[in-house]
Amino acid sequence: HGHVDHATPEAVRAAIEAGATHAKIPAYEDHAAYVAAGGYATLADLRAEGDPEAVQEAVLAAGIRGLGGAGFPAGKKWSFVRAAAGPRYLAVNGDEGEPGTFKDRYYLERAPHLFLEGMLIAAWAVKAETCFIYMRDEYPAVLEILRREIAALEAAGTVAPGHVVLRRGAGAYICGEESAMIESIEGKRGLPRHRPPYVAQVGVFGRPTLVHNVETLHWIARVCREGPEILTGTERNGRRGLRSYSVSGRVATPGVYLLPAGSTIRDVIAAAGGMADGHELKAYQPGGPSSGLLPATLDDIALDFDTLQAHGTFIGSAAVVVLSQADSARDAALNMLRFFEDESCGQCTPCRVGCEKAVKLMQADRWDRDLLEALSTVMVDASICGLGQAAPNPIRSVMRHFPDEV
Ligand code: NAI
Ligand code: SF4
Repeated sequence: HGHVDHATPEAVRAAIEAGATHAKIPAYEDHAAYVAAGGYATLADLRAEGDPEAVQEAVLAAGIRGLGGAGFPAGKKWSFVRAAAGPRYLAVNGDEGEPGTFKDRYYLERAPHLFLEGMLIAAWAVKAETCFIYMRDEYPAVLEILRREIAALEAAGTVAPGHVVLRRGAGAYICGEESAMIESIEGKRGLPRHRPPYVAQVGVFGRPTLVHNVETLHWIARVCREGPEILTGTERNGRRGLRSYSVSGRVATPGVYLLPAGSTIRDVIAAAGGMADGHELKAYQPGGPSSGLLPATLDDIALDFDTLQAHGTFIGSAAVVVLSQADSARDAALNMLRFFEDESCGQCTPCRVGCEKAVKLMQADRWDRDLLEALSTVMVDASICGLGQAAPNPIRSVMRHFPDEV
């Protein structure tokens, strides 16, 4: 496999036809290395004599919650899907579109088989006929790694050909919403569906579907192999477990940091090498634009599920973006709303028109707080999916924490 740089479209096409990829493939643990280190023994044991009920209990006991951002208990999802009549499917959400989130990529580019084994364990537990992996096209190296390693699993006889299907996204943020992702997997335009029914009952091609984020499956593999203590054994600020924080913005060393789930923003910044030279913490986004902004004064709260509600926000996918005195909270919020305006699928009026209207209102020197508040309420109450429901969070958080700027 060659690498294509700065080529014309014709040259790229010719190179791809000749077997080249446009991805630089990082060093990662491949199938042979993973198996040599004991990989897939857990899956083989479970398939031979495992009890899905017991594994489900272990996943619940380990406190594994959905790491796409919503934090729904993973074992509970298994129980819903197992209770529904087959055939069942498993769909992996690898769309990771939330700005500032890159932890799934981090794990896939290093340890793809931990994820794949976790996926096959979950598929075994709910008796899923097919596993669909929906991977964003912006991660070409990950796509190439998965193509190679799924082929290695087929060659080793660990999965039957066709049991694992790799589907590419095409750059739409909304296709990370689980029902829009399912529409996309089915070959349709990615428009979110109404809930209920939940995808656990009516998912891919109308069948009960277990949807998990990439990192959730990574931890399922590790808990099945190493025991729940790898998560329950860590406690900080009254919280148990670990979180993978994607850290960017005004820090010295942006990256993914695996820290205790009860870490505060000060802990996260310290892990990232401290603030960048000359910058002081002014505000931070705890979990993607959907979570809005928090001020530096709130620097002692645990950044975990359930701990940020009192401050009007949530940890989401733990995409921490650090802002300093060089940044405007108001401009950051406007930027977030422009993103939501661009990415709204346009299916429902509160979101399609609401995002556009919010951007206009936020461009005024002085924000019309009453109007923005009323607009936010309509968007939260009447939008079909999480995009429109969460889009007002940046507006409300800036009005609450940075009133002087607006
Ligand atoms: P949600 O809480 O509505 O659902 C979470 C999961 O639990 C879904 O799989 C849903 O099907 C399942 N579920 C919930 N209630 C259920 C029930 N009664 N029966 C069966 N299944 C049930 O949250 P949603 O809208 O799926 O996700 C929102 C989160 O996504 C936000 O917290 C945000 O942080 C995150 N997000 C993550 C992105 C990323 O790139 N990782 C991008 C954008 C948002
Ligand atoms: Fe589409 Fe926005 Fe409605 Fe979601 S809330 S269905 S993204 S228009």
